Amino acid sequence: MKNIDSFTHTRGESIYVDDLAILGGTLYATIFDASIAHAKIIKLDVEAAKKMPGVKHILTCKDIPGENQIGGIIPDEPALALDEVHFIGQPVALILATSVRAAHAAKAKIEIEYEALPIVTCPREAAAKGSIIGAVRTFKMGEMSQAWSKARYCFEGRADTNGQEHLYIEGQGAYAFPIENDCIRVVSSTQGPTQVQRGIARVLGLAMHKIEVDVRRLGGGFGGKEDQATPFAVLASLGAYISKKPVKLVLHRDEDLRMTGKRHPYSSDYKIGLDEDLNIIAYEVDFYQNAGASADLSPAVLERTLFHATNAYYVPNIRVSATSCRTNLPPNTAFRGFGGPQGMFVIEAAITHAAEALEVDRARIQKQNLLKNDQFFSYGQIVEGCEAQTTWEQVEKFVDIEARRQSVAAYNETHEFHKKGLAFMPICFGISFTNTPMNHARALVHVYQDGSVGVSTGAVEMGQGVNTKMLQVVQQTFSIESSKIKLETTNTTRVANTSPTAASAGADLNGKALQVACKAIKERLVQFVRKHFNLADEALVQFKNDQIYHNNTPLNCSWESLVSQAFLARVQLSEKGHYATPKVRFDKTKEKGHPFAYHVYGSSLTEVSIDCLRGTYRFDSVDIVHDFGTSMNPIVDRGQVEGGLVQGMGWMTLEEIAYNKQGRLLSSALSTYKVPDIYFAPRQINVEFLETKTPNLAILKSKAVGEPPLMYGIGAFFALTDAIKAFNPSATGLFEAPMTHERLLMALYQETAANDSKPSTFDHTINK
Ligand code: MTE
Ligand code: HPA
Ligand code: MOS
Repeated sequence: MKNIDSFTHTRGESIYVDDLAILGGTLYATIFDASIAHAKIIKLDVEAAKKMPGVKHILTCKDIPGENQIGGIIPDEPALALDEVHFIGQPVALILATSVRAAHAAKAKIEIEYEALPIVTCPREAAAKGSIIGAVRTFKMGEMSQAWSKARYCFEGRADTNGQEHLYIEGQGAYAFPIENDCIRVVSSTQGPTQVQRGIARVLGLAMHKIEVDVRRLGGGFGGKEDQATPFAVLASLGAYISKKPVKLVLHRDEDLRMTGKRHPYSSDYKIGLDEDLNIIAYEVDFYQNAGASADLSPAVLERTLFHATNAYYVPNIRVSATSCRTNLPPNTAFRGFGGPQGMFVIEAAITHAAEALEVDRARIQKQNLLKNDQFFSYGQIVEGCEAQTTWEQVEKFVDIEARRQSVAAYNETHEFHKKGLAFMPICFGISFTNTPMNHARALVHVYQDGSVGVSTGAVEMGQGVNTKMLQVVQQTFSIESSKIKLETTNTTRVANTSPTAASAGADLNGKALQVACKAIKERLVQFVRKHFNLADEALVQFKNDQIYHNNTPLNCSWESLVSQAFLARVQLSEKGHYATPKVRFDKTKEKGHPFAYHVYGSSLTEVSIDCLRGTYRFDSVDIVHDFGTSMNPIVDRGQVEGGLVQGMGWMTLEEIAYNKQGRLLSSALSTYKVPDIYFAPRQINVEFLETKTPNLAILKSKAVGEPPLMYGIGAFFALTDAIKAFNPSATGLFEAPMTHERLLMALYQETAANDSKPSTFDHTINK
């Protein structure tokens, strides 16, 4: 089944926040944001700006009726700056005017004076100064000191990854409408309608029931709208509440790039120990997460880094610690993989380091240390349904690995200035919110008297196809045509207390809740059929292709006529469903538990060609064997794998976020921030579906697919280092992503080994 949005998408008819019909009297909001990364505000004068044509209100923190606070996990983030600013782009005031242009013109007239405070952009520097968020978290397993004494080989180093801009096509935005009795209705481009509702209620000092949040779909979220849609919906609502007019706030691309946080950059120190058979027996890491100016989701992201620090490998003795470091950058946030990719990169770097030093094939160490059933993760969960080795071996078979290695070796022999590189990348990703209380969802189903069905769930459609999957759940339960089913907007008055659509669990959680609701309605209809047709029992009643059968004999009763008769007989045709993932638990005081419903596995092989004169590269192919469970929608799921892969490759290669030491974003436009396009994408992407028997925890046994494939992109980085080594065997210290063309060129001609005088760019800031 195709994505149900494909028709309106291709015709340009799909509706996003900026496409909503404008209501009379609407005011347009723009944000006056901080231009210095850390300072005291000593003067803020909006009087001249207020006098500008078309300006109706200029709001500052003094106009907030409730609590000036939007921090979800830690209350450390004001909606509008009070007397200090902590990053460039931090909202200071909100201008409401009769046009966008008038609002922008007024912005230039606001007078502000700052007293500069010291600016920190580097996570290690922040940590050294004690500027950290929450406590340092440590996961441990085994016996470290014994392990090190047994290790035959031991390697230490540093591995760094940079951030990543979400670049959802639809920027952040919201449109808020005042309703009688101090109520607000807001349409928001958010992954978390309830987060937005809660945020608005808090800032306006209202109860949650006064706020209705409505979401039709997002033009992409990728985690960037899990938490960070909230401030903009809050500001639009504040405007609507005070002006009593509808208020529309849609960020321009440059504002969005400047004001919103991104994937967290990490800087990490690793130490890996192997025995003489190349089993990894010890692994230690200290992760430094660049959180930006406030906590946002950083503590949760940090946690997932630890959960995935050993990727798909078994390491019996481990100590991994992570520190969330407060810096003067926009608060970094969720991004597909949620800290997992940053953790996985480091162990891949450590393995590569060991392989290079020992002059063995990196894939040998990887393969030999893959997880197996009945082993344990460092956080105490047992390994079950493990497909690490299966997927790896199937990749080897599909690509004919020996032939592939030989052809790459032959190519590298015969080409002086062109080299190829290969890299395997296994993945293992845990499915569930690591914060156990978030793992539940609700759905509401109305069967209308003509047999058509309206479906509301807590899931937000952001291009990942969750609505299509929801429709399939209804279709399969009732066995009716898809044209009879409509997915309603995600709305907090129809489905309350939602978790954000995130953690790849949107389809599982909401699909399961929806199934519960549909089954309850079906059960009532079956009872009705038994009574109506005087059947002895209901066990043999079947719904098939819009018709009702008993013991495979048609009852000459269509779904429509059944529904309309049931309605006349006063059968309840609406139902809500609730689902809470069973078994999941996690004890943070021990850092042990069973946080994930299940894990998703897969393996990939990336082949790249580099041009050693220009420092450019081209990805020849990526072959993937991915564990889909039993995919309920192979078209949608393949799209998720391909999209996730290319997004991950972009993070690892082209996409270079740059801030200067003053905390100013230099990569502030698409001319300076390069993202993958079709020319960058691998010439070949082969996705093989590994069908696995999944426990019933995945919806219709179809495993969650949203985030895991991003991590195949890490293979791109190590394929590049492999190719670099073929040209310049002495190149070292390469574990700094992204591997841009520039950085590749430098590595190709790097002369000395482990050069300590190599300028460090681990804080990803530039002196400019
Ligand atoms: N795919 C598209 N097209 N657009 C998106 O914004 N977000 C990703 C992934 N795939 C995203 C996407 C992220 S970060 C997550 S967590 C999941 O989709 C969320 O949806 P799911 O839980 O329904 O998989
Ligand atoms: N993944 C994604 N988003 C989240 C999580 C998680 O584990 N926890 C809280 N938000
Ligand atoms: Mo996805 S980063 O969990 O929104």
